[in-house]
Amino acid sequence: MEKFVINGGKQLNGEVYVGGAKNAVVAIIPATILANDVSRIENVPDIEDVANMLEIVESLGGIVTREDAHTYVIDTRDVSCTIVEKEIAEKLRASYYLMGVLLGRFNHFKVALPGGCDLGARPIDLHIKGFEALNAKITDDGYYIEATTHGLAGGSVYFNTVSVGATVNTILAAVKAPGVTIIENAAKEPHIIDLANYLNKCGADIRGAGTNTIKIKGVDSLRGCEHAIIPDQIEAGTYMLACAAAGGTVTVKNVIPRHLECITQKLLECGVYVDEFVDSVRVRTEKSRHTNCDIYTTPYPGFPTDMQPQFTAFLAIAEGVSTVSEGVWSNRFRYVDQLLRMGADIKRLGDNKTAVIKGVSELHGALVKADDLRAGAAMIIAGLAATGRTEIEQIYHIDRGYEAVVEKLSALGADIKRVDDTEPPLTVITVA
Ligand code: UD1
Repeated sequence: MEKFVINGGKQLNGEVYVGGAKNAVVAIIPATILANDVSRIENVPDIEDVANMLEIVESLGGIVTREDAHTYVIDTRDVSCTIVEKEIAEKLRASYYLMGVLLGRFNHFKVALPGGCDLGARPIDLHIKGFEALNAKITDDGYYIEATTHGLAGGSVYFNTVSVGATVNTILAAVKAPGVTIIENAAKEPHIIDLANYLNKCGADIRGAGTNTIKIKGVDSLRGCEHAIIPDQIEAGTYMLACAAAGGTVTVKNVIPRHLECITQKLLECGVYVDEFVDSVRVRTEKSRHTNCDIYTTPYPGFPTDMQPQFTAFLAIAEGVSTVSEGVWSNRFRYVDQLLRMGADIKRLGDNKTAVIKGVSELHGALVKADDLRAGAAMIIAGLAATGRTEIEQIYHIDRGYEAVVEKLSALGADIKRVDDTEPPLTVITVA
């Protein structure tokens, strides 16, 4: 099994280039199926979730051509299969977007329940509510969700809870449904806007993406288009936090600073300097320890839950007592056990929704694991800031969402390596 080995305590300096947004691309790749044509997608991050999503599109009959590491041409004219099997669906959470896409194009889907990070209960009742509002009939046998319809029709749906996935899936299913669909209490994340921009370029009529009311007028057909994925807000935030925790000056390039606003504000509150430019931010530290702050995660434009573990790792060595409360997922503090192994002083309150962090003067290296994707990012940040050697296991979680993380951090001066400890030791031949 591969693992990361970090010798911590080195400041980070230089520039790091952020790739396309994971959560946008995993919606837009399946959306190419709706276009029933050829789309060219740029700024695609080279991560496992993308490889798995492209594999799903190919398994359904799509033809994927890789122009370079970050550009794909996807021809979905021959897609005909409407079934996504368990073995592939469980490789990533976003496989559930095939539900909306296949329903929208073929009036049918049978998709196995998705995989992804274990962050507590991850129901899909709201996705189903969206499909039913469009005149689909849904069955769930505990393994597969299946949808049939005699004809989709626009409808209105109100989500009690703000859900990125349910908002995306309802948009996908509604794009070609005759009539008007209205989604109330929709998610407002930047990747919802990016998806709507892609679909509108293909000829869809989606208005209000980025607000809590989205209106979709069904169109008869779509065509392919060229589209560049927006920068990844969470990858950018992770490098900002890595610099804040390890110290130094890092310019994070290819970002939309507005998408990073609440991360920037919290870092400023802690005494980290952040300068914003047109498409980059520069993070700068002038002291070894920063001050505490309180965080509460909520849907966009609130503080992103996907930055919660990384910020907690930074606060573990800040002065004073910080409180981090999770407002989206029911079980997103498992990684705290790993930080405790590194000398952190963190207590989870009874409901497991809040962590109280008493900053310590330093963390020490330890053998830890990545419980999930962003928990893994937090382990990297802790390892970079810690004294001594940290080994991180289960890094396949990290590879799902971070491209070339070792190379990018090494270029900033970090001492981090990917090692394969299943490789047999070198044979030593002794000559008698
Ligand atoms: C997406 C992101 C994930 C991020 C999350 C919240 C992708 C591929 N993943 O996940 O990285 O952490 O948004 O920003 O974009 N809920 C229900 N019923 C449903 C659906 C959701 O109750 O049918 C609840 C969930 O349990 C959770 C909340 O709604 O408490 C938000 O979930 P949602 O926004 O749907 O998350 P995902 O789309 O799965």
